Amino acid sequence: MVLNGSIKEQAALNRADEVQELLEAIQDLIIPFIRSADEEAATKHTGHGLDIPGGGSRTALVQHHPPQELEGILNLRVPEKRGGKEGLLELVEKLLKYSVNTWDQGFMDKLYASTNAIGVVSELLLAVLNTNAHVYQVSPVLTLIEKHTANFLANLFGYTSKDAGGISQPGGSASNSSAIIIARNTLYPETKTDGLGGRKFTLFTSAHGHYSLEKAAQMFGIGSKNVISVPVDSNGCMIPSELSRLVQESKDRGEVPFFVNATAGTTVLGSFEPFPAISSVCKQHNLWLHIDGSWGGCVVFNTAYRASRLAGAEMADSITITPHKMLGVPMTCSFLLGKDLRQFWNAMTLPAGYLFHSPADLVADIYDLAELTPQCGRRADSLKLFLALSYYGTEHFSALVERGYQNAEYLLSLLKQSNNFVVSSPEPLPCLQVCFYFARGGKLGGSDGNGEITAKVTNRLISRGFMIDYAPGPNGKFFRVVVNGNTRRGTLGGLVKAIEDCAVELGY
Ligand SMILES: Cc1ncc(COP(=O)(O)O)c(C=O)c1O
Repeated sequence: MVLNGSIKEQAALNRADEVQELLEAIQDLIIPFIRSADEEAATKHTGHGLDIPGGGSRTALVQHHPPQELEGILNLRVPEKRGGKEGLLELVEKLLKYSVNTWDQGFMDKLYASTNAIGVVSELLLAVLNTNAHVYQVSPVLTLIEKHTANFLANLFGYTSKDAGGISQPGGSASNSSAIIIARNTLYPETKTDGLGGRKFTLFTSAHGHYSLEKAAQMFGIGSKNVISVPVDSNGCMIPSELSRLVQESKDRGEVPFFVNATAGTTVLGSFEPFPAISSVCKQHNLWLHIDGSWGGCVVFNTAYRASRLAGAEMADSITITPHKMLGVPMTCSFLLGKDLRQFWNAMTLPAGYLFHSPADLVADIYDLAELTPQCGRRADSLKLFLALSYYGTEHFSALVERGYQNAEYLLSLLKQSNNFVVSSPEPLPCLQVCFYFARGGKLGGSDGNGEITAKVTNRLISRGFMIDYAPGPNGKFFRVVVNGNTRRGTLGGLVKAIEDCAVELGY
């Protein structure tokens, strides 16, 4: 039926032209943005930003302002009238000018690195497709890619059974949270419908574990007080005998221990915990063993580091790996892997007839992947890892991990050559972060003083084109520098120089 005139009178759609026009316009802004970081790489070894005659120092990393000042500069408004292309470009220029340029070599903040060309392309493809990876009908290719990529990762970790696999999740915290729910619903299936039933569930993670475990406990009615912190040894690793003692004590109090989180690459020190010994405790008490490999799980791509850092990981019931952290895959890209996806299915499935139309009896038949996740709408993030793997090959990732370790060791050696640093990282370095204090003449002051130097120098480094971070340490806050496989040695030399210079400028 044609209302108000004929079909011919309707304007033709010209969305393709509009996309092309905007892409071309945006390209003229983003390519110079990336190029500025490439060009500045050549000067990083100097330890200061680009010196512009008469213009002071400048850096491609960021033009940083306090929030209130930036509000004034950005002058963000939602217009009533169409801003169109002109308005868009004006905004994008500001967006790029005042954002942190993570392509810059000096970006060594927590806990990820810049992306790369294939990362940009994969995000663009996801935007164009705008796929919802919840059910196969609307996501035929990306669902198969997700299953395939997750299976590949599961196999890398040594999950070889036919029911092994995984699902993508919107970040490492989300993967860890899902692991807790899958564990609880698997070990105590009635909690799925009846709730906690008066049980006081407890879970265990090392004193250096990521806060996502506590947050999940708060969300799921377990309570963060019931996340029991297991002491660590001098290398920052959970002590299995302490785990055993704390589990027994929890049982003796009438609580219900059900879940242990072991970390592969802790957030601050990068420590890898002793998985076989932790697994023995879990087996003895029938506890679910999860490995949070959000950060350090990425070393699985390198055979030598897999053997030295991830031995026994296959004993876990589930593993998180978050390729957006170490592997140059754009934010966000994370997977929860399981040795038996039937557990994911039983724990998560909920027969919403308006969404899921093809009940599956076998894991191999599960194509509606939202059956396995808390999310209904799901971004097909696995495409980003899959395309990167196809573009570069796995050997690239193996080399990237190896170079990352070499770079971290190189930074460590520079710190040791100077007489002005005290290293806090365990050695050999467990992962790609290096933790240390500035201490003139190698003499540490009191905790407050050390923390003050660390915070002030960190802040001052930004205008020199270096963004690092700090964390609480045994003698006050220490620097935590996160390198990656693409960090150049000149950048690390420049960073050490810049820290020493900033300390002098600040009077330390
Ligand atoms: C060990 C560990 N687990 C989990 C996370 C959380 O990951 P995401 O930031 O992707 O939620 C982090 C973040 O750095 C981490 O270091």
